[in-house]
Amino acid sequence: MTDSSRLALLGGVPVRDEARRPWPKWPISDELERATMLEVLESGAWWYGERVRRFEDRYAAFQGAAHCVSCTSGTTALEIALQALGVQPGDEIITSPYTFVATASAVVRLGAVPVFADVDDSWCIDPDRIEAAVTPRTRGIVPVHFGGRICDMDRINALADERGLFVLEDACHAWGSRWNERGAGVLGRCGVFSFQHSKNITAGEGGAIVTNDEDLALLCRSLVNCGRDPVKGWYLHVNFGTNARLTEFAAAILDAQLERLKDQTARREHNAALLNEALAQIEGLEPQPGDHRITRRSYHLYCLRIDPDRFGCPRDRFIEAARAEGLPIGAGYPVPLYKQPAFVDAAFHDYRACHCPRANDLCERSGMWFRHSLLLGSEDDMREIIAIAHKIKANVAELRTTDNA
Ligand SMILES: Cc1ncc(COP(=O)(O)O)c(C=O)c1O
Repeated sequence: MTDSSRLALLGGVPVRDEARRPWPKWPISDELERATMLEVLESGAWWYGERVRRFEDRYAAFQGAAHCVSCTSGTTALEIALQALGVQPGDEIITSPYTFVATASAVVRLGAVPVFADVDDSWCIDPDRIEAAVTPRTRGIVPVHFGGRICDMDRINALADERGLFVLEDACHAWGSRWNERGAGVLGRCGVFSFQHSKNITAGEGGAIVTNDEDLALLCRSLVNCGRDPVKGWYLHVNFGTNARLTEFAAAILDAQLERLKDQTARREHNAALLNEALAQIEGLEPQPGDHRITRRSYHLYCLRIDPDRFGCPRDRFIEAARAEGLPIGAGYPVPLYKQPAFVDAAFHDYRACHCPRANDLCERSGMWFRHSLLLGSEDDMREIIAIAHKIKANVAELRTTDNA
């Protein structure tokens, strides 16, 4: 065996020397952000004004929505949207257990109860499991477009219509993703986005709610701005809102970031397609499946399942080996949300009885992902990722029988 065919984890030469050839950095900024930030600084107009409006209009157009209300984070966007949709204490909201905690903690903060319905092979919520979870207390469904992969919105909307439920899309990974050419966020009643540091468009923090429902948009706008009425006067408060206003600095950065998003998304999709085709051919690996109705996909995360029995080694061993070869891949969420301490200890509901085997399997045994910025690399970079997977597969017997820990 040569040094380059031996796994780097076991003393060989890595496929990619990350120190010498780093992956594309995130976030990306250039003269555009610099100039626009300086302009805001020197204008003295730092507070919730024209730039926020301009970004909201452009982002609404980008998602194909009639309205966009910006706010300080995806988490506040969720809380405000749930409040605007009229969620009351004790209401049940069905969502995925395989998501960031905010999707469900926002529900709890309104006094309502998240009910977890398992995911299917798509890593997104399974419509059959939603149907089984509906009770007379159910008020709405919060599907999560995990990694930017849109859920089966045809079935989810049909189910919601039949049962009189709202659909609030957690589109915090799905900037630009489209279902039959319609943008994420307006596939249900409304949708929420995050612009936090790791996201495909970012100002460090930030969030937005989009909708085609004008009344809902007006209510959200009031709620992010201390419950004010937009016309009746500064100290007239018609709702119990909060201060979740975006600054002009954040809006200026987001506006500049939005300029690049379309081209970046095309590149991510192109590179992800190369990976999907090649990695699916390796026994025991399965890229997150797409759907022909998804006409654009943000690829916030590149998600890959390993079947340890068919691949030949446990997930953690694959990850160790891949990292040593220069691929920064991880196992993602360690547990489904209902196993997080806050849920296990919750007084308002017994989550100890909850069991979602597929989400659990992704967390504990099979799920892996790496971040979207790697997909901004070249085709040669993608070939290296593929070469890393093949190298691990070719050496899997040795990997199984050695433990370098
Ligand atoms: C699926 C999902 N929903 C909601 C959020 C919350 O967004 P933020 O971090 O902007 O509050 C995140 C953040 O990572 C997320 O991944």
